[in-house]
Amino acid sequence: MKKLIMTLITSLASALATAQTPVASISSPAKTLRVDVYLSAQGEPSYQVNYQGKSLLADSRLGFDLKNQPALAQGFELVSAKTGKFDETWEQPWGEERLIRNHYNQLRLALREETGSKRKLDVVFRVYDQGVGFRYEFPKQDALPQVEILRELTEFNFAADHSAWWTPGQAGNQYEYLYQQTPISKMGLVHTPVTLKTADGIYVALHEAALHNYSTMNVTGAADGKISATLVPTSKNQPVAVTLQTPAATPWRTLQVENSATALITNYLTLNLNEPNKLGDVSWIKPAKYVGIWWELHLEKTSWKSGPTHGATTANTKKYIDFAAKHGFAGVLVEGWNKGWDGEWWKPGGGNAFNFYTPTPDFDAKELARYAKEKGVYIIGHHETGAAIENYESQLDEAFDFLSAHGMQAVKTGYVETGEELVNGLYHHGQFYVNHAQRVIDKAAQHKIAVVAHETVKDTGERRTYPNIISREVARGQEYDAWSVDGGNPPNHTAIIPFTRLLSGPMDFTPGVFELTLPSRPNNQVNTTLAKQLALYVVIYSPVQMASDLPEHYEAHPDAFQFIKDVAVDWETTKPLAGEIGEYIAIARKARKSDNWFVGALTNEQARSLNIKLDFLTAGKKYRARIYKDGATAHYKTNPGSYEIEERVVSAGDDIVVKLAPGGGFAISLMAE
Ligand code: NOJ
Repeated sequence: MKKLIMTLITSLASALATAQTPVASISSPAKTLRVDVYLSAQGEPSYQVNYQGKSLLADSRLGFDLKNQPALAQGFELVSAKTGKFDETWEQPWGEERLIRNHYNQLRLALREETGSKRKLDVVFRVYDQGVGFRYEFPKQDALPQVEILRELTEFNFAADHSAWWTPGQAGNQYEYLYQQTPISKMGLVHTPVTLKTADGIYVALHEAALHNYSTMNVTGAADGKISATLVPTSKNQPVAVTLQTPAATPWRTLQVENSATALITNYLTLNLNEPNKLGDVSWIKPAKYVGIWWELHLEKTSWKSGPTHGATTANTKKYIDFAAKHGFAGVLVEGWNKGWDGEWWKPGGGNAFNFYTPTPDFDAKELARYAKEKGVYIIGHHETGAAIENYESQLDEAFDFLSAHGMQAVKTGYVETGEELVNGLYHHGQFYVNHAQRVIDKAAQHKIAVVAHETVKDTGERRTYPNIISREVARGQEYDAWSVDGGNPPNHTAIIPFTRLLSGPMDFTPGVFELTLPSRPNNQVNTTLAKQLALYVVIYSPVQMASDLPEHYEAHPDAFQFIKDVAVDWETTKPLAGEIGEYIAIARKARKSDNWFVGALTNEQARSLNIKLDFLTAGKKYRARIYKDGATAHYKTNPGSYEIEERVVSAGDDIVVKLAPGGGFAISLMAE
């Protein structure tokens, strides 16, 4: 009996010791972040994260529920824990920052079940001074030739119920919702990146990186700040989310951690966790500004559908080509140029009518390709699929041959639909869709064509590996201002997305509306001032930026239009100057291959004054500053079109103080003399 009690005490003590003593730990290079990994007495793996000496994540589970297999979540022993260091600086072919440092310490854990078929699972942690990424790897093994994942058990159990900014996951409009702010415990199922703020003023973005051949990770909030991964299932009736053949790896689960909201903007952790460029020479991918037959469609001045109101006619396209050539825009987007728009294409199955290589009779593709070339611009193709993926994929070769044959260097894709499901019944953004998106990127790369994808899956930094996926929509863009029954994007929308959606990558927001009262849309108006529209070109990063308004609206304001003509789209460096989530933001960016800087700042519905310290300018140089700001009586509701332009010569160390109207903003071009 005594022996039994002694044995019980010993095993209890060792269980407690295993629960409290990490089996492995790894710190970031400057030791700001530390990850500790544990194996419970039952061999359940878990991890904890400490930031600046305080608990950021409490004990958080790791593992999987599988189909036709026991869960891969317990009974593990640690086979090995290998550490390593990495430090390199790499160059983006285009981007918001030319040089990016990738500096981390790595911990690779090899786990094996102690009994049964002794299945193996590796977990790899990369710990940066500004965040953590980890992924699972399934080694090739006889006991697990194929993995069918029902549920990823990954948890992110925050130490407290922090404030969160989120949009709902797995909802009918995909990513196109206004952000809400609640405690973690009230957020439910949400998309990533989800941005959190702790009571201590620490900002965290929870997201994923390198989403390939896997299902999208949403996350679910619960009591006390607990968050768990929720993979998008294959479909309503097929709960398996992911099927993989071993060896295989999951995407990285990422936490970007900073002491200010603005620092998140230049945190490049998710890009760093993607593989380097696989396309070789990508000098054919050119950041560019574009105009096009687009806003007039959303304003219902012309239509996508054929007939007397058709927008994509040869004559109208030539008008935009002339305008682009005159004002120095490289691209002209044309929507509604092809067959398929006459039915209810947005309803389930309607997208099957789309043909991606047959223009409407009034769109002379050959003549327009010739005309555009003569004028030194190119047409941007448009593939609206209506989420009918099989129809699109069956024409992919012809579709991209058509683009190439007509000198189209970029294509905008779209997946409009009225529910959560694709036309084939599978969930949008599950593994099937993720692989489809990759097939389009690959096909486009073979044709040296850049892709701007709307209604696609969220960005997880794939542009590092495939630089031809240059921009996406994946949030509420400017189009909502034309027709949304809720009155369009409120003024705080563009003060929230720099700290949420835009952390994932470039956005094709399509800014630049000058005629903000929208006479043809009596129930809507754009909820910004004109100066704030200019600010968006700097605040919202995208290597392709549209000047979305109609040519005549720009011609009415040549002085303000000058900013859109001048602003760069490819950057040497980005410097967030000030901001708080949902309140305001000010960013400065330096153009590549020049000494010119551009500043954009915007506010929510509150008027405010911002002092821009020009300490980022090159010392000793003089700059011609042109300040595009709200007029004295400007207001996003009552007087959105009022702006003033002020010019002066400035140098490093000077300040520029600017007043922002309610829903307003300002833009500054700083041209080196
Ligand atoms: C939604 C896209 O976001 C928009 O830009 C496009 O004009 C329509 N779909 C039609 O394809």
